Amino acid sequence: MSHLVSLRNDGDIAVVTIDNPPVNALSHALRAGLVEALSRARADAGTAAIVIVCAGRTFIAGADISEFGKPAREPTTLDVISAIEASEKPVIAAMHGTPLGGGLEVALACHFRVAVPGTRLGLPEIKLGLIPGAGGTQRLPRLIGLDKAMAMVLSGDPIPATEALTAGLIDAIVEGDLTAAAVAFARGIVARGQAPVLARNRDDKLAPWRGEVEKFDDDAAPYAKRARGRDAPAAAIAALRGAITLPIEEALARERALFLDLVAGEQSKAQRHIFFAEREAAKLPKLAGVKPHDIQRAAVIGAGTMGGGIAMCFANAGLPVRVIEANDEALARGLDAVAKNYRSAAARGSLAADEVEARLARIAGTTDLAAVADAEIVIEAVFEDMSIKQQVFGALDRIAKSGAVLATNTSYLDIDALARGVARPDAVIGMHFFSPANVMRLLEVVRGAATSPATLATALAVGRRIGKIPVVVGVCHGFVGNRMHRVRGVEAERLLLEGALPADVDAALTDFGFPMGPFAAADLAGLDVGWRMRKAQGLNAPIADLLCESGRFGQKTGRGFYLYAPGSRTPQPDPEVARLIAAEMARRGAAPGAVGKDEIVERLLFAMINEGARILAEGIARRPGDIDVIWVYGYGFPAHRGGPMHYADSVGLARIRDRLTEFARRTGDESLRLAPLLQKLAADGNGFASLST
Ligand code: 3HC
Ligand code: NAI
Repeated sequence: MSHLVSLRNDGDIAVVTIDNPPVNALSHALRAGLVEALSRARADAGTAAIVIVCAGRTFIAGADISEFGKPAREPTTLDVISAIEASEKPVIAAMHGTPLGGGLEVALACHFRVAVPGTRLGLPEIKLGLIPGAGGTQRLPRLIGLDKAMAMVLSGDPIPATEALTAGLIDAIVEGDLTAAAVAFARGIVARGQAPVLARNRDDKLAPWRGEVEKFDDDAAPYAKRARGRDAPAAAIAALRGAITLPIEEALARERALFLDLVAGEQSKAQRHIFFAEREAAKLPKLAGVKPHDIQRAAVIGAGTMGGGIAMCFANAGLPVRVIEANDEALARGLDAVAKNYRSAAARGSLAADEVEARLARIAGTTDLAAVADAEIVIEAVFEDMSIKQQVFGALDRIAKSGAVLATNTSYLDIDALARGVARPDAVIGMHFFSPANVMRLLEVVRGAATSPATLATALAVGRRIGKIPVVVGVCHGFVGNRMHRVRGVEAERLLLEGALPADVDAALTDFGFPMGPFAAADLAGLDVGWRMRKAQGLNAPIADLLCESGRFGQKTGRGFYLYAPGSRTPQPDPEVARLIAAEMARRGAAPGAVGKDEIVERLLFAMINEGARILAEGIARRPGDIDVIWVYGYGFPAHRGGPMHYADSVGLARIRDRLTEFARRTGDESLRLAPLLQKLAADGNGFASLST
């Protein structure tokens, strides 16, 4: 039998134990072992019931994602499920950890299900651009009802064991040793002579829905609306609908066909790429054996937009944090914003009331920098001004304890220059959070020339501890994300001078799958920040500068690239902006024209991809997948497109090269000059992915 599955007898109960670290994914060898163990247990006259349990940290967490895209090998997950359902002896799933996807589908096929407290059960396929493909859309609604199943399948979010019990997904929560408790549960069933119950044969929770197909469609409509170009939500809705419109065999076949289509498609491939790229980003072979410092206390300098959010990250993770401000007034304002943020989360029901106080109690504010002395990590988030930051770092150098990590949240400034000003440059590192810092998952960890491996390992460990996705990047103006973002911004302004309106540019990108276009996003962030920065650096942005000169700073002034009705955040196209752009074009002698949607997407994204190639060649990002993770988690790049570099490969680098060459020729724009790496890969017929292998 497969070494991944073992079978032993505990009296008249057969215990099938799966052991396929790290997450017991349903690989081919595991499926083969499971089918064989079930067959032996069924054939054994001394066995009255069968318990399936997993070793390690979790019950089966799903299909083995690395097998997708390869030819299917028998036995399939459907064969495992058939073997369970065919068993005349009751089969009990004994669950812990995260029974997910195909793992939960195996459990749904079992006759009974038990779980220990803390188990989280879900069908997360939608997050990989898929739908459950082994009966999840049919068996789950039969156990818990169509409304609850719809929420689970379309959100992909797991539910805790307590909720699973109330909903009818599991039969019991068992305490103590899981295997022993499941064996006892099985004995009870045998003793009572309880007949095996298959989810597929239940109809009590579906029957009320059969005459309510319209209600089902109404309930599903909001999910379809939020799909933003993703195919999986519509497929999930179609599969779930089958539960009330088709006989089960047909519905199962339809689910399978939809699943197979999605698995073979570009969207799921892109989302699987992001799943693995996110995990790859965390791996630094050179840090093997480097121990991160133990972190007990943190300090954050500055309680503005970012500092407050960063302090919340620590408090949310259970770490005490001191917040140091320049004066009492700014401190009170900062702490007040944090408290309001927690209270509104509690009012929305997303945070328990007692958690508000517990988290606030972990945040201590002061204006005395000496308070950093007991922190093992200090994160500076003061104004984006080199001389102020240098002053702060000079003081930190004197006060912070030996071994403390000295991190800066700077967006653009030179971390090596900051490090040169202190006596311990090895302790200096960038930890670039994204706004709102307590929400956004991305953390660019900026490694300076002098940053020590221990400092880097500590910043990464802290990032993970506070729930972030840390990606290591190198020092340059804007690091990876903002550097590419700036290139996109410059290109977007250029499009305005060629006849596109802000709404045309934004619509092209929202149609592509971004939650917001660049101009609506700029209005939200405030145009004045970039304007001030450009002025300081002698740079300009033709249209944004004109808007700022006329007091249009974006949403905060009710006018920017768009017009905002009082109290509204909805951008309305503004004829005044169209006139201002037309006047600027006339002044420059630019011919009025129109730019098509496809060209807008190409101009913006290909320019970014070209910059991404430079970033890779310079070693600022280590892998194309790192850039993809940064854009998906920090800038709303649609995950189903896989991030800019994966998207580039799906378009083909030769096409990108040719289009960029044509754009550069047509516009005379020097910045669209081809990056040598892009040119070389295209000439060799390679993609960016070839750099990762
Ligand atoms: N297949 C293959 N590898 C997987 C995997 C899977 N389903 N789930 C996790 N892994 C791997 C990860 O790549 C990682 O590998 P690495 O150590 O080499 O980088 C390792 O397992 C540990 O994963 P995490 O770092 O994510 O560990 P966590 O403890 O943080 O999280 C988890 C565990 C919650 C299970 C998380 O890994 C996860 O969400 N996995 C994906 C679950 C999923 O999507 N399942 C559904 C798959 S689709 C399906 O089942 C189709 C079916 O309907 C037919
Ligand atoms: P902010 O202006 O909202 O807050 C800065 C705070 O620092 C102010 O409250 C100010 O009183 C305080 N401060 C100034 N000097 C200080 C000193 N010497 N000691 C203690 N406190 C001091 O600015 P914001 O937006 O929070 O930005 C902070 C840093 O984060 C900047 O470097 C910025 O580039 C970076 N950043 C900003 C992002 C954003 O979206 N706002 C995103 C990522 C990084």
